[in-house]
Amino acid sequence: MGLNLKTVRWLLPYFRGTRRFWVLAALATVVTAATEPLVPALLKPLLDQGFAGEGIPLWMVPAALLGLFAVRGTAGFLADLALARITQDGLLALRRAMFGRILDARLALFGKESATSLSNTVVFEVQNGAQLLVNSVIGLLKDALGLLALVGYLVYLNWQLTLVVFLVVPGVGWIMRTLSKRLYRIARSTQTATNNLAYVVEENVLAARVVRLHGAQEGQAERFRGLSLVLRRLALKAAAASAAITPLTHMLAALALSMVIAIALWQSRAGITVGTFASFITAVLMLLAPIKRLSEAATPIARGLAAVQRGIDLIELTPAESGGGHAPPQCQGRVDLRGVRVRYREDQTAALDSLNLSIAPGQVVALVGPSGSGKTTLANLLPRFVVPEAGCVELDGVDVSQWDLATLRRQFALVSQDVVMFNDTLARNVSMSEVPDLVRVRHCLDAANLADLVDGLPQGLDTITGHNATELSGGQRQRLAIARALYKDAPILILDEATSALDAASERLVQEALKRLMAGRTTVIIAHRLSTIEHVDHILVLDQGRVVESGTHPQLLAMNGLYASLHAIQAGTARTPALAVAG
Ligand SMILES: Nc1ncnc2c1ncn2[C@@H]1O[C@H](COP(=O)(O)OP(=O)(O)OP(=O)(O)O)[C@@H](O)[C@H]1O
Ligand SMILES: [Mg+2]
Repeated sequence: MGLNLKTVRWLLPYFRGTRRFWVLAALATVVTAATEPLVPALLKPLLDQGFAGEGIPLWMVPAALLGLFAVRGTAGFLADLALARITQDGLLALRRAMFGRILDARLALFGKESATSLSNTVVFEVQNGAQLLVNSVIGLLKDALGLLALVGYLVYLNWQLTLVVFLVVPGVGWIMRTLSKRLYRIARSTQTATNNLAYVVEENVLAARVVRLHGAQEGQAERFRGLSLVLRRLALKAAAASAAITPLTHMLAALALSMVIAIALWQSRAGITVGTFASFITAVLMLLAPIKRLSEAATPIARGLAAVQRGIDLIELTPAESGGGHAPPQCQGRVDLRGVRVRYREDQTAALDSLNLSIAPGQVVALVGPSGSGKTTLANLLPRFVVPEAGCVELDGVDVSQWDLATLRRQFALVSQDVVMFNDTLARNVSMSEVPDLVRVRHCLDAANLADLVDGLPQGLDTITGHNATELSGGQRQRLAIARALYKDAPILILDEATSALDAASERLVQEALKRLMAGRTTVIIAHRLSTIEHVDHILVLDQGRVVESGTHPQLLAMNGLYASLHAIQAGTARTPALAVAG
């Protein structure tokens, strides 16, 4: 526990822009702290002169009190405003940095972290963390200064009595430290438990239909209950630990006070006045609150650091994607793969192995093969969504890692089976830009056989498609993805089972749209249904990450190998049941 200086140093730049506000907050805090002993100090003349001695003018009482609180109030107000500004500015910078990293992180991040935990980190955790940190830093300053001022005043009043008071300080310190340590451990566990709980909610939102269909509600409710119970247990533990702090310290304070009072009474013969005594006791009582906060300061700071730590990890430990500098104005569309091997995890067998492939500009190449043979992996190699372990992937004779990433990705349009749409207007979904060229969007939607859909929508191109466009049918979403690819107008096209989820009628519509899309482009088609690829220039048959056959449709049929057997199964003329299983 304690102050992790490295983390603090890391955070500083994000709060640097607010230097003026730090100065303002610190000044206001110093003023507040300096006025702290004035309350007990005012008591002394009031009691000694107002009640006993020669008397003081009555108007001085409200004047002194109001004056004092006006100064303190103004300083406090300014400090709070400055703090809010510091927190929010720092938070803004941190959040933007984190989201920036989500935008440029290597894709491995999204296999490791769930959407819930990432959004928790970016949205909630840094906010809590920044707030806790800024508040505790200023609180620390305020309490330390206030404490100093009060102690100074106590020593000035009566140093012997002050010594007695400080006898209990180590005891209070020990209680605080022990309990804060416990609180910190509980806070860490609470963070994990909260993430787990949120994750169950996320999964159940995504899988709402599956859960209902399989009657799995009870199991999910039980899972949720179990995790909620963990959270409740942690919250109760934390409550017990923090609730114990006050009574325990009060007991020690009572001990010190009773000693002080006894000594003071005994010393009163030696000349302690009522005023001195009253202001001494008041100042001692005023010590309690800042001492309590100071000894607990480690907890919010540690909690704050723990909360921003995940954000820091996201920015620092997540490697960003990096590319080269090759950025030609035009791309021919020649693709070469040589001896490519891909492994997703060290302990797994290769998803692709010793793969060689050449696609000439304008050629249409199909990839076929059993499920899990590596077709999608191969397609993902081209825009560098996947990086090969060995071998090279070249576009126009230049290794894709030498290409400028943005330029490289501008060369590909991808239509895959899982279409992802933003909760935005139709036009922006198609153009994927803030300012769509509406004429072109309309043209692409027409070419994708979506004219009827658009004409039927009340707001046309400005209709919001909703969360992932789930209100559209599978075929409509597929054609929307084709329209998106048409709009992008990239030289190389990758179709990953773009028609697999469709019935015959909508498949025909999609096929038509695809034909328009493919015109004049280098195209890689991944298809399960072999009937859709019979006419292509070249077919590669993959099995377990290797190319096992290649050629044109008639050549492959003549080989009488895997392709021929897949073809036979799909044509309904499978010769042996064993082959049907293999397909
Ligand atoms: N992100 C990933 N992490 C780990 N392994 C993966 C990942 N993606 C794919 N794999 C594995 O790599 C192999 C090839 O997967 P790939 O998705 O390329 O197959 P595919 O030929 O596209 O299959 P399908 O026809 O079912 O879509 C599979 O064994 C799969 O389990
Ligand atoms: Mg696939």
